[in-house]
Amino acid sequence: MDNDTARAAVLVGVAGWVPPGTVTNADLEARLDTTDAWIRSRTGIARRHTVAPGTATRELAVEAGRLALKSAGRDSVDAVVLATATPDRLCPATAPEVAAALGLGPVAAHDISAVCAGFLYALAAGVGAIAAGFADHVLVIGAETFSAIVDPQDRNTAVIFGDAAGAVVLRAGGSEEPGAIGPIRLGSDGTHSDLIQIPAGGARQRAARTVPGPGDHHLQMQGRKVYRHAKERMAQAAREVLDRSGWTVGDVDRLATHQANARISEAVADELGVARERVLSNIEQVGNTSAASLPLLLADSASGGALRPGDRVLLAAFGAGLAWGAASLTWPDVTALAVHSYRG
Ligand code: COA
Repeated sequence: MDNDTARAAVLVGVAGWVPPGTVTNADLEARLDTTDAWIRSRTGIARRHTVAPGTATRELAVEAGRLALKSAGRDSVDAVVLATATPDRLCPATAPEVAAALGLGPVAAHDISAVCAGFLYALAAGVGAIAAGFADHVLVIGAETFSAIVDPQDRNTAVIFGDAAGAVVLRAGGSEEPGAIGPIRLGSDGTHSDLIQIPAGGARQRAARTVPGPGDHHLQMQGRKVYRHAKERMAQAAREVLDRSGWTVGDVDRLATHQANARISEAVADELGVARERVLSNIEQVGNTSAASLPLLLADSASGGALRPGDRVLLAAFGAGLAWGAASLTWPDVTALAVHSYRG
């Protein structure tokens, strides 16, 4: 490995994996005060997927990681970065177990905690590792088991979130190559940390010696308040990345936003002036899969033909923290692998 800090990170593999269990809107109608019509019209979601009992984030990450390595035609990397808000345990990180299960040897491996913006933060970590010269190949995974933290009786969250994993492989290369990750913008605003949270289980609640209340171990979200932040922050970060990329809005062939809500993705596109037909979407089939959302969307879109080599792609994500980000790349000629049980 050389020490050339100018070298770029090039996307050479991409994959998504969605577990077999499904929860349809009809399933939710049967147990919650909600309707298929409300969920579809307010979120764009028709179903979400859940892991089988005993399966958690490590297994999802391994499935997506294995497929991404296959997509890249590799059996080794120098580092594994796992974005997840649902690690298998609070301590240790899940990434070392994922690296071991993938047979990658004693490579660097760590988790990134930036919830729904996690994949872009993990991507930035991978890009940074390559630029700094301490890795030539990095496996970047987003994997989530939100079914483990969502209260199935809470209609605010149960209708939205699903389990899945997605991953990309980065290799050191030149900034002009197709697949080279362009400018990345990341941001946060911790003054709104209470808008999406799990109140119990962390050091704060434990140090206070308080007894968690019912629901405190579940994800709690003030959706309406989050909505406005999501739209504004993603649009702003995307604008900054456009500027730094030297692209105009008209140059954007595909807008790939974190799949939080179809209305938010469309609102971001409208705010930017990107035509709606250029917006990639798979939320109808998978819901909001947090850190898995963007790599899964890329894998689905590329394998389904909605994303083609040469397309200029603008990425944006937003989530709890609050944390957000945006990035750009020109899509490379890569064999995307997406395994969805619902496709048979
Ligand atoms: N089924 C039926 N009705 C529901 C419902 C559900 N699952 N959830 C809320 N409602 C009701 C509300 O009680 C409210 O009723 P009211 O008008 O009588 O008070 C009405 O629907 C509208 O509620 P509101 O919360 O304003 O809905 P919304 O249009 O904002 O949609 C979200 C709710 C959660 C889908 C939306 O706010 C959202 O997507 N927020 C952002 C999520 C996000 O980005 N998260 C962070 C990134 S992961």
